[in-house]
Amino acid sequence: MRLSRYFLPLLKETPAEAQIVSHRLMLRAGMLRQEAAGIYAWLPLGHRVLSKVEQIVREEMDRAGAVELLMPTLQLADLWRESGRYDDYGAEMLRVTDRHERELLYGPTNEEMITEIFRAYVRSYKALPKNLYHIQWKFRDEQRPRFGVMRGREFLMKDAYSFDVDEAAGKAAYNRMFVAYLRLFKRMGLSAIPMKAETGPIGGDLSHEFIVLAQTGESQVFLDRRMLDLPVPGEDVDYDGDLESIVADWTRLYAATEDVHDSARYDRETPESERITARGIEVGQTFFFGDKYSKPMKAVVSGADGVERPVQMGSYGVGVSRLLGAIIEASHDEAGIIWPDPVAPFGVGIVNLRPGDAATDQACAEAYAALTKAGKEPLLDDTDERPGGKFAAMDLIGLPWQLIIGPRGLAEGKVELKRRATGERHTVPLAEALSMVGA
Ligand SMILES: Nc1ncnc2c1ncn2[C@@H]1O[C@H](COP(=O)(O)OP(=O)(O)OP(=O)(O)O)[C@@H](O)[C@H]1O
Ligand SMILES: [Mg+2]
Repeated sequence: MRLSRYFLPLLKETPAEAQIVSHRLMLRAGMLRQEAAGIYAWLPLGHRVLSKVEQIVREEMDRAGAVELLMPTLQLADLWRESGRYDDYGAEMLRVTDRHERELLYGPTNEEMITEIFRAYVRSYKALPKNLYHIQWKFRDEQRPRFGVMRGREFLMKDAYSFDVDEAAGKAAYNRMFVAYLRLFKRMGLSAIPMKAETGPIGGDLSHEFIVLAQTGESQVFLDRRMLDLPVPGEDVDYDGDLESIVADWTRLYAATEDVHDSARYDRETPESERITARGIEVGQTFFFGDKYSKPMKAVVSGADGVERPVQMGSYGVGVSRLLGAIIEASHDEAGIIWPDPVAPFGVGIVNLRPGDAATDQACAEAYAALTKAGKEPLLDDTDERPGGKFAAMDLIGLPWQLIIGPRGLAEGKVELKRRATGERHTVPLAEALSMVGA
């Protein structure tokens, strides 16, 4: 992409309404525009990162055996009356009426709808296990939308739903999602710690919130420091095998949010030197709730014994749009964002220090072609802005590499390559710089 043709409305001033660094940087870097409280337009740079985050989530869901579909944003109120949640949900639910006076709602989550789809087609245990997911916009009329994408009213969520014949199979499905979550957050450069979470009236202890530690997080958390050193399963993890030992390793040590914190247990189980009290951002939650929806909604399957029983279900959410905020909270400096490579909107920023200078333009074009061919998605700054402004913009938008090309360097056969994360600089011939970034 050439910057002169792109749409990157950077802000010079720090927007007064943004209270936390990720919100400030997303606005300043031209990623986001607020259209109403908690409702945002995703500008091109923000949209590129959102798509990358979404794609990582998708790949890890698919790897774990989940199947993607897409459900609508609007749902019938009657469906929610079947589970009893229509009245319970309260003011967070955006309710609308169509021209035929039918009551609809903008979905805050999809348990009811997926249960309706499942019961329409599946009757036998032979079709199980199944895990269906989508990545779709949700609406929750939050009382206090704030912190940009962290607590929006409209936000992008990945929600997966598992269906199993009995509790043991349901637990195995839960474990697959648990492991997939460890992997997908890690792939984005995040350390997300599963913490015991409230399960509500259904009981059992099968719910975890995945929490990224950050000073600006909304939850207070208590954990054993050794959680931070646990190994995340590789992409060769066998989702058809028994994942219990991995889940056991990740749930043995103490980690809990304030809602379920048990200070006596914490003190007993965690040596004082290993205790961490911190703030955290909830980036995902996994939940096994058995027949909570399948029973009232009559989603039953016949077992091997021919007896029909409500299907055992779990649901698994990831806050896809919130993740951008969490990534920035975890990875930035005074100059701007530092994108981890896998989610960077562009892989390399090429800075042309003297547009119009034939040799410089030529070297930039060469670099651009080579990087494009290698799939590095370069962004070429070919504008007339002064060098200082170009450097500041590149630092702000946080691309992993900056390739700086100008007449003075070229006269000596050199360009400059800068790694955004470390500030490390290499003055080398263009071919060498290209090979250092993998082109
Ligand atoms: N208002 C929101 N804005 C952005 N992301 C959200 C919002 N609400 C929930 N999410 C994301 O969706 C995921 C799954 O939704 P879930 O129903 O578990 O949310 P929640 O527990 O109500 O979230 P919270 O406690 O933060 O309100 C959450 O883990 C979070 O990452
Ligand atoms: Mg939650």
